[in-house]
Amino acid sequence: MSPHSDPAIRSHYESDGLADRLIAEIDDPSRDIGPALDQFHVGGAKATLRLAEQVALSSGCRVLDVGSGLGGPARLLAETRGWDVTGVDLSPDFAQIAAALSARLNLTTRTRFCAADALQLPFAEARFDAVWTEHVAMNIGARDALYRELARVVCPGGLLALYDVVAGENTAPLTYPVPWAREPGQSHLVDAAGLKGIVVGAGWEVVSWADETAFARDWLNAARAPRVPAGPSLRHVMGADFPSMIANLGANFSDGRLGAVQAVFRKTA
Ligand SMILES: C[S@@+](CC[C@H](N)C(=O)[O-])C[C@H]1O[C@@H](n2cnc3c(N)ncnc32)[C@H](O)[C@@H]1O
Repeated sequence: MSPHSDPAIRSHYESDGLADRLIAEIDDPSRDIGPALDQFHVGGAKATLRLAEQVALSSGCRVLDVGSGLGGPARLLAETRGWDVTGVDLSPDFAQIAAALSARLNLTTRTRFCAADALQLPFAEARFDAVWTEHVAMNIGARDALYRELARVVCPGGLLALYDVVAGENTAPLTYPVPWAREPGQSHLVDAAGLKGIVVGAGWEVVSWADETAFARDWLNAARAPRVPAGPSLRHVMGADFPSMIANLGANFSDGRLGAVQAVFRKTA
Protein backbone atom coordinates (compact mmCIF):
# COMPACT_ATOMS: atom_id res chain seq x y z
CA MET A 1 0.00 0.00 0.00
CA SER A 2 1.27 3.54 -0.76
CA PRO A 3 2.25 5.56 2.30
CA HIS A 4 -0.06 8.34 3.38
CA SER A 5 0.18 11.17 5.85
CA ASP A 6 -0.85 11.14 9.48
CA PRO A 7 -4.49 12.43 9.79
CA ALA A 8 -3.43 14.41 12.88
CA ILE A 9 -1.48 16.75 10.59
CA ARG A 10 -4.66 17.95 8.91
CA SER A 11 -6.24 18.64 12.33
CA HIS A 12 -3.16 20.62 13.32
CA TYR A 13 -3.88 23.17 10.56
CA GLU A 14 -7.70 23.16 10.42
CA SER A 15 -10.35 24.32 12.89
CA ASP A 16 -14.17 24.25 12.86
CA GLY A 17 -15.66 26.62 10.31
CA LEU A 18 -12.25 27.94 9.22
CA ALA A 19 -12.98 28.11 5.47
CA ASP A 20 -16.45 29.69 5.94
CA ARG A 21 -15.12 32.33 8.33
CA LEU A 22 -12.16 33.38 6.23
CA ILE A 23 -13.89 33.21 2.86
CA ALA A 24 -16.61 35.57 4.16
CA GLU A 25 -13.84 38.09 4.96
CA ILE A 26 -12.02 37.50 1.66
CA ASP A 27 -15.23 38.01 -0.31
CA ASP A 28 -15.93 41.30 1.49
CA PRO A 29 -14.35 44.02 -0.70
CA SER A 30 -14.28 46.47 2.23
CA ARG A 31 -11.83 44.21 4.16
CA ASP A 32 -8.07 44.61 3.67
CA ILE A 33 -6.34 41.32 2.89
CA GLY A 34 -2.58 41.58 3.36
CA PRO A 35 0.49 39.33 3.11
CA ALA A 36 0.24 38.43 6.82
CA LEU A 37 -2.30 35.80 5.75
CA ASP A 38 -0.94 33.84 2.86
CA GLN A 39 2.86 33.39 3.07
CA PHE A 40 3.07 30.66 5.72
CA HIS A 41 6.81 30.20 6.17
CA VAL A 42 9.81 31.97 7.72
CA GLY A 43 10.80 34.98 5.65
CA GLY A 44 7.43 35.61 3.98
CA ALA A 45 7.33 36.80 0.36
CA LYS A 46 11.05 37.64 0.44
CA ALA A 47 11.95 34.00 1.06
CA THR A 48 9.76 32.83 -1.83
CA LEU A 49 11.46 35.32 -4.16
CA ARG A 50 14.93 34.25 -2.95
CA LEU A 51 14.17 30.66 -3.92
CA ALA A 52 12.61 31.72 -7.25
CA GLU A 53 15.91 33.45 -8.16
CA GLN A 54 17.57 30.02 -8.15
CA VAL A 55 15.04 28.47 -10.53
CA ALA A 56 15.66 28.76 -14.28
CA LEU A 57 12.16 28.36 -15.72
CA SER A 58 10.51 30.51 -18.34
CA SER A 59 7.11 32.19 -18.26
CA GLY A 60 4.23 29.79 -18.86
CA CYS A 61 6.00 26.77 -17.30
CA ARG A 62 3.77 24.40 -15.33
CA VAL A 63 4.63 24.34 -11.63
CA LEU A 64 3.09 22.21 -8.87
CA ASP A 65 3.23 23.84 -5.41
CA VAL A 66 3.05 20.94 -2.96
CA GLY A 67 1.61 21.91 0.44
CA SER A 68 0.45 25.20 -1.06
CA GLY A 69 -1.24 26.39 2.15
CA LEU A 70 -3.25 29.55 1.56
CA GLY A 71 -1.66 30.03 -1.86
CA GLY A 72 0.61 33.03 -1.29
CA PRO A 73 3.70 31.46 -2.90
CA ALA A 74 1.66 30.22 -5.90
CA ARG A 75 0.21 33.69 -6.53
CA LEU A 76 3.56 35.43 -6.08
CA LEU A 77 5.23 33.05 -8.55
CA ALA A 78 2.41 33.44 -11.07
CA GLU A 79 2.60 37.23 -10.82
CA THR A 80 6.38 37.71 -10.74
CA ARG A 81 7.55 34.81 -12.95
CA GLY A 82 4.52 34.20 -15.16
CA TRP A 83 4.43 30.51 -14.17
CA ASP A 84 1.21 28.54 -14.33
CA VAL A 85 0.86 27.23 -10.77
CA THR A 86 -1.27 24.41 -9.43
CA GLY A 87 -1.37 24.15 -5.63
CA VAL A 88 -2.13 20.99 -3.71
CA ASP A 89 -2.62 20.84 0.05
CA LEU A 90 -3.64 18.21 2.60
CA SER A 91 -6.23 20.62 4.01
CA PRO A 92 -9.42 21.06 1.92
CA ASP A 93 -10.12 24.26 3.91
CA PHE A 94 -6.73 25.71 2.97
CA ALA A 95 -7.28 24.81 -0.70
CA GLN A 96 -10.69 26.55 -0.67
CA ILE A 97 -9.30 29.66 1.04
CA ALA A 98 -6.42 29.76 -1.44
CA ALA A 99 -8.90 29.62 -4.35
CA ALA A 100 -10.99 32.44 -2.81
CA LEU A 101 -7.88 34.61 -2.44
CA SER A 102 -6.90 33.97 -6.06
CA ALA A 103 -10.43 34.89 -7.18
CA ARG A 104 -10.25 38.15 -5.22
CA LEU A 105 -6.90 38.97 -6.83
CA ASN A 106 -7.98 37.98 -10.37
CA LEU A 107 -5.42 35.19 -10.55
CA THR A 108 -7.66 32.22 -11.27
CA THR A 109 -6.35 31.66 -14.78
CA ARG A 110 -2.75 31.30 -13.55
CA THR A 111 -3.35 29.58 -10.18
CA ARG A 112 -5.67 26.80 -9.03
CA PHE A 113 -5.83 24.66 -5.90
CA CYS A 114 -7.00 21.24 -4.82
CA ALA A 115 -6.83 19.04 -1.73
CA ALA A 116 -4.64 15.93 -1.72
CA ASP A 117 -1.81 14.22 0.14
CA ALA A 118 1.69 14.97 -1.19
CA LEU A 119 2.39 11.23 -0.90
CA GLN A 120 -0.45 10.38 -3.32
CA LEU A 121 -0.68 13.19 -5.83
CA PRO A 122 -3.73 13.12 -8.12
CA PHE A 123 -1.70 13.89 -11.27
CA ALA A 124 -0.37 11.86 -14.18
CA GLU A 125 3.34 11.17 -14.63
CA ALA A 126 5.43 14.00 -16.11
CA ARG A 127 2.53 16.49 -15.83
CA PHE A 128 4.67 19.43 -14.56
CA ASP A 129 7.92 21.20 -15.47
CA ALA A 130 8.77 21.74 -11.80
CA VAL A 131 7.65 20.99 -8.27
CA TRP A 132 7.84 23.69 -5.61
CA THR A 133 7.52 23.13 -1.85
CA GLU A 134 8.02 25.46 1.12
CA HIS A 135 7.84 24.41 4.79
CA VAL A 136 5.83 21.21 4.22
CA ALA A 137 8.21 18.26 4.48
CA MET A 138 8.63 18.87 8.24
CA ASN A 139 5.20 17.22 8.57
CA ILE A 140 6.10 14.17 6.47
CA GLY A 141 7.94 11.17 7.91
CA ALA A 142 8.03 9.15 4.68
CA ARG A 143 10.60 11.43 3.02
CA ASP A 144 11.94 8.93 0.50
CA ALA A 145 8.37 8.24 -0.69
CA LEU A 146 7.68 12.00 -0.84
CA TYR A 147 10.63 12.86 -3.10
CA ARG A 148 9.93 9.84 -5.34
CA GLU A 149 6.29 10.94 -5.71
CA LEU A 150 7.45 14.47 -6.61
CA ALA A 151 9.82 12.98 -9.22
CA ARG A 152 6.94 10.98 -10.71
CA VAL A 153 4.89 14.08 -11.60
CA VAL A 154 7.70 16.15 -13.21
CA CYS A 155 8.88 15.73 -16.79
CA PRO A 156 12.33 14.27 -17.58
CA GLY A 157 14.91 16.85 -16.50
CA GLY A 158 12.25 18.70 -14.48
CA LEU A 159 13.09 20.68 -11.34
CA LEU A 160 12.34 20.48 -7.62
CA ALA A 161 12.65 23.72 -5.61
CA LEU A 162 12.40 23.38 -1.86
CA TYR A 163 12.61 25.60 1.20
CA ASP A 164 12.58 23.61 4.44
CA VAL A 165 13.30 23.86 8.10
CA VAL A 166 15.91 21.26 9.12
CA ALA A 167 17.30 19.93 12.40
CA GLY A 168 20.20 22.09 13.62
CA GLU A 169 23.57 21.14 15.11
CA ASN A 170 22.22 21.52 18.65
CA THR A 171 20.40 18.21 19.17
CA ALA A 172 18.49 19.34 22.29
CA PRO A 173 14.72 18.71 21.99
CA LEU A 174 12.64 21.44 20.36
CA THR A 175 10.36 23.67 22.39
CA TYR A 176 6.73 23.16 21.27
CA PRO A 177 4.37 24.28 19.84
CA VAL A 178 6.00 25.31 16.56
CA PRO A 179 3.99 26.34 13.47
CA TRP A 180 3.99 22.83 11.94
CA ALA A 181 3.52 20.81 15.15
CA ARG A 182 1.94 21.14 18.57
CA GLU A 183 3.78 18.05 19.82
CA PRO A 184 6.86 16.03 18.77
CA GLY A 185 4.90 13.26 17.01
CA GLN A 186 3.81 15.73 14.30
CA SER A 187 7.35 16.89 13.49
CA HIS A 188 9.64 14.89 11.18
CA LEU A 189 12.85 16.89 10.87
CA VAL A 190 16.05 15.69 9.24
CA ASP A 191 19.33 17.60 9.25
CA ALA A 192 20.67 19.37 6.14
CA ALA A 193 23.02 16.57 5.12
CA GLY A 194 20.29 14.01 5.67
CA LEU A 195 17.86 16.02 3.55
CA LYS A 196 20.32 16.23 0.64
CA GLY A 197 21.01 12.48 0.87
CA ILE A 198 17.33 11.52 0.85
CA VAL A 199 16.45 13.78 -2.10
CA VAL A 200 19.43 12.61 -4.18
CA GLY A 201 18.64 8.98 -3.32
CA ALA A 202 15.08 9.50 -4.58
CA GLY A 203 16.25 10.36 -8.12
CA TRP A 204 17.34 14.02 -8.07
CA GLU A 205 20.68 15.81 -8.54
CA VAL A 206 21.66 19.07 -6.84
CA VAL A 207 21.46 22.23 -8.98
CA SER A 208 21.87 24.73 -6.13
CA TRP A 209 22.02 24.54 -2.35
CA ALA A 210 21.85 27.47 0.10
CA ASP A 211 22.02 27.43 3.89
CA GLU A 212 19.34 29.98 4.84
CA THR A 213 19.68 29.62 8.61
CA ALA A 214 21.04 33.14 9.19
CA PHE A 215 18.37 34.66 6.93
CA ALA A 216 15.63 32.77 8.82
CA ARG A 217 17.02 33.66 12.26
CA ASP A 218 17.31 37.36 11.38
CA TRP A 219 13.79 37.46 9.96
CA LEU A 220 12.38 35.80 13.08
CA ASN A 221 14.22 38.22 15.36
CA ALA A 222 12.73 41.15 13.45
CA ALA A 223 9.26 39.51 13.48
CA ARG A 224 9.26 39.47 17.28
CA ALA A 225 8.67 43.24 17.34
CA PRO A 226 4.93 43.71 18.00
CA ARG A 227 2.94 44.31 14.80
CA VAL A 228 -0.77 44.45 14.17
CA PRO A 229 -1.38 43.33 10.58
CA ALA A 230 -4.32 44.84 8.71
CA GLY A 231 -6.99 42.24 7.96
CA PRO A 232 -6.93 38.53 8.72
CA SER A 233 -3.57 36.93 9.52
CA LEU A 234 -2.12 33.50 10.26
CA ARG A 235 -3.13 34.08 13.89
CA HIS A 236 -6.77 33.81 12.72
CA VAL A 237 -5.96 30.60 10.86
CA MET A 238 -3.86 28.78 13.46
CA GLY A 239 -5.54 30.04 16.64
CA ALA A 240 -4.59 31.54 19.97
CA ASP A 241 -1.31 29.63 20.31
CA PHE A 242 0.15 31.04 17.06
CA PRO A 243 2.20 33.75 18.88
CA SER A 244 3.74 30.98 21.06
CA MET A 245 4.55 28.98 17.94
CA ILE A 246 6.45 31.94 16.47
CA ALA A 247 8.23 32.72 19.76
CA ASN A 248 9.30 29.06 20.11
CA LEU A 249 10.41 28.95 16.48
CA GLY A 250 12.63 31.98 17.12
CA ALA A 251 14.09 30.42 20.28
CA ASN A 252 14.71 27.07 18.54
CA PHE A 253 16.53 28.89 15.71
CA SER A 254 18.47 31.14 18.09
CA ASP A 255 20.17 28.31 19.94
CA GLY A 256 20.90 26.17 16.89
CA ARG A 257 18.17 23.54 17.27
CA LEU A 258 16.78 24.50 13.85
CA GLY A 259 18.26 25.51 10.50
CA ALA A 260 16.83 26.34 7.07
CA VAL A 261 17.76 25.28 3.55
CA GLN A 262 16.74 26.43 0.08
CA ALA A 263 17.72 24.10 -2.74
CA VAL A 264 16.98 23.27 -6.35
CA PHE A 265 17.32 19.75 -7.79
CA ARG A 266 16.96 18.28 -11.28
CA LYS A 267 15.32 14.92 -11.94
CA THR A 268 18.02 12.51 -13.05
CA ALA A 269 15.99 10.00 -15.04
C1 LIG B 1 3.61 25.79 7.16
S1 LIG B 1 2.39 25.56 5.94
C2 LIG B 1 3.21 26.13 4.45
C3 LIG B 1 2.21 26.54 3.39
C4 LIG B 1 2.82 27.13 2.12
N1 LIG B 1 3.76 26.23 1.52
C5 LIG B 1 3.47 28.45 2.38
O1 LIG B 1 4.71 28.47 2.46
O2 LIG B 1 2.77 29.46 2.51
C6 LIG B 1 2.45 23.79 5.73
C7 LIG B 1 1.39 23.28 4.77
O3 LIG B 1 1.69 21.94 4.41
C8 LIG B 1 0.48 21.24 4.28
N2 LIG B 1 0.78 19.79 4.39
C9 LIG B 1 1.30 19.13 5.44
N3 LIG B 1 1.42 17.81 5.15
C10 LIG B 1 0.99 17.66 3.86
C11 LIG B 1 0.86 16.57 2.99
N4 LIG B 1 1.19 15.33 3.36
N5 LIG B 1 0.37 16.77 1.76
C12 LIG B 1 0.01 18.02 1.34
N6 LIG B 1 0.10 19.11 2.14
C13 LIG B 1 0.59 18.93 3.38
C14 LIG B 1 -0.37 21.78 5.40
O4 LIG B 1 -1.73 21.49 5.24
C15 LIG B 1 -0.03 23.26 5.33
O5 LIG B 1 -0.87 23.95 4.46
